[in-house]
Amino acid sequence: MSYIELKGISYKYPVGDEKVLKDISLSLEKGKVYALIGANGAGKTTICNLIRGFIPHFFKGDLDGEMLIEGRDIREWEMGDLAQKMGYIFQNPFTQISGTKDTVFEEIAFGLENLRVEVPVIKERVAEIIKLFGLESLQEKNPQQLSGGQRQRVSLASIMVMDPEILIIDEPTSQLDPQATEEVFKIINIMKQRGKTIILVEHKIELIAEYADRVILVEDGKVAMKGKTKDILSDIKAMDHGILLPQYALLGYEMQKNDRLHEIPVTESEAIGVFTKWMAGKEN
Ligand SMILES: Nc1ncnc2c1ncn2[C@@H]1O[C@H](COP(=O)(O)OP(=O)(O)O)[C@@H](O)[C@H]1O
Ligand SMILES: [Mg+2]
Repeated sequence: MSYIELKGISYKYPVGDEKVLKDISLSLEKGKVYALIGANGAGKTTICNLIRGFIPHFFKGDLDGEMLIEGRDIREWEMGDLAQKMGYIFQNPFTQISGTKDTVFEEIAFGLENLRVEVPVIKERVAEIIKLFGLESLQEKNPQQLSGGQRQRVSLASIMVMDPEILIIDEPTSQLDPQATEEVFKIINIMKQRGKTIILVEHKIELIAEYADRVILVEDGKVAMKGKTKDILSDIKAMDHGILLPQYALLGYEMQKNDRLHEIPVTESEAIGVFTKWMAGKEN
């Protein structure tokens, strides 16, 4: 049984006459990082809304096919149970802060407080997350005074403190500079190492190459390609679907025009390995 399974899913929002998801089938395993990629309007956020139960619980419309979490149809799950199982982070770091707390520590504690967890337990768990994410220097700051990148890291911390099994992260870095983006990805990587199942919508392909286990390429409401990150991001066919391959893969293809490379790299460390081997071959 797959952890999360979509079987022949089609969906049309109540407003609009076209199906925005068309016969999507996916099987997601526990503990893996899945990157959803594809052009704007392809249907990535809609897939996220489906997995977290907003479709069909809040958005009505026409849903066909089966969407199962742990083998149980999404229609049968209680929203409250889904909310405990999944954390959701979206694009705009400025709207995710409660606006009611004076310090980052309290902000991160907010969700546990709402669940009426005992104060000493809250303190312990918040302190643990702050340490894990390296947010010590921010903990006494006012959340309103943080930069976009800092807010996004605090948002991730306030989700992680609830210890969800699944994290759905929709374009977390689209409004961040490269440095803040790196910081956010370091945190996503910590979540990954903690065994979370992560569904990540992201456009920065080099970061996907580095951190995702699997890539799902969505195009016009359909799954155009899916597979291991390395296989998809080194496949020239992805470019026919509007995806720019990582720079190392492009360089690899350039080099392959004249010479043999034993593989197309997608990350920096792979590139170093592949090109070192290639140079050694030249010398012999
Ligand atoms: N709430 C909504 N009601 C009607 N149509 C929507 C709604 N949200 C998104 N859409 C439409 O669904 C399609 C897919 O959108 P979306 O899932 O947001 O794509 P992506 O996240 O890949 O950019 C788009 O054509 C979009 O206009
Ligand atoms: Mg989107």
